[in-house]
Amino acid sequence: MRIDIVTIFPEFFDVLDLSLLGKARQSGLIELGVHNLRDHTHDRHHSVDDTPYGGGAGMVMKPEPWGDALDAILGADPASAESVAAETSIADSAADDGPILIFPSPAGDQFTQAMARELSLERHLVFGCGRYEGIDERVVDHYSQRGRVRLVSLGDYVLNGGEVAVMAMIEAIGRLIPGVVGNPASLIEESHEDGLLEYPSYTKPANWRGLDVPPVLRSGDHGAISIWRHEQQIERTQRVRPDLLAPSATSERQG
Ligand code: ADE
Repeated sequence: MRIDIVTIFPEFFDVLDLSLLGKARQSGLIELGVHNLRDHTHDRHHSVDDTPYGGGAGMVMKPEPWGDALDAILGADPASAESVAAETSIADSAADDGPILIFPSPAGDQFTQAMARELSLERHLVFGCGRYEGIDERVVDHYSQRGRVRLVSLGDYVLNGGEVAVMAMIEAIGRLIPGVVGNPASLIEESHEDGLLEYPSYTKPANWRGLDVPPVLRSGDHGAISIWRHEQQIERTQRVRPDLLAPSATSERQG
């Protein structure tokens, strides 16, 4: 999978050199491009933001640097006079499943494990990290006319910018790409994969600070272990996330 990120803080993504995703990059499973939005400004101060039309607090990210930066990745706007046939034009994307452009935003669709799985099947993801009060809305409007664009929220809270959200999404998506996680079986038994939270796990020693590992796990009875784990999943989900067990969530899982 190819992943491009546009940000005013490219250093933020240095951590993608580490751990499983770092290895995935080294082995070529994930190809990453991090692009500094300020490289696409044309004024002396490299400014990326301006005051909002209509007034209000904060600053809004200007459309021109975003247009330049995204065209450099996706290909020039086919409607513009200087545009030549671009290699990875988002214009063709609806037809050939080209790149998806994702803007993290608290006003977007909720990011879920199901969305992570869906996005892990894509060949090319492009993330645009907004800051301040957001990006001029015309950027989303323009690229929506040219291809697939999604606004995605990490949750019902406000971050200072999209970078942390993009990091979380890349980690959740990247680990679902075949070959990235060494033992694929471990992906199947995780929280949210079957719509339930994960069962509790234990390792040695059998007794730690007076606390015993549940005896069933040491019984060797795999049928009983499997039933106990499922019961634990239901109990934990009921207690912590009853919304996941609501009838609509259940029918969605079955549907
Ligand atoms: N940017 C700011 N807050 C965000 C959130 N909750 N999710 C995604 N992007 C964001």
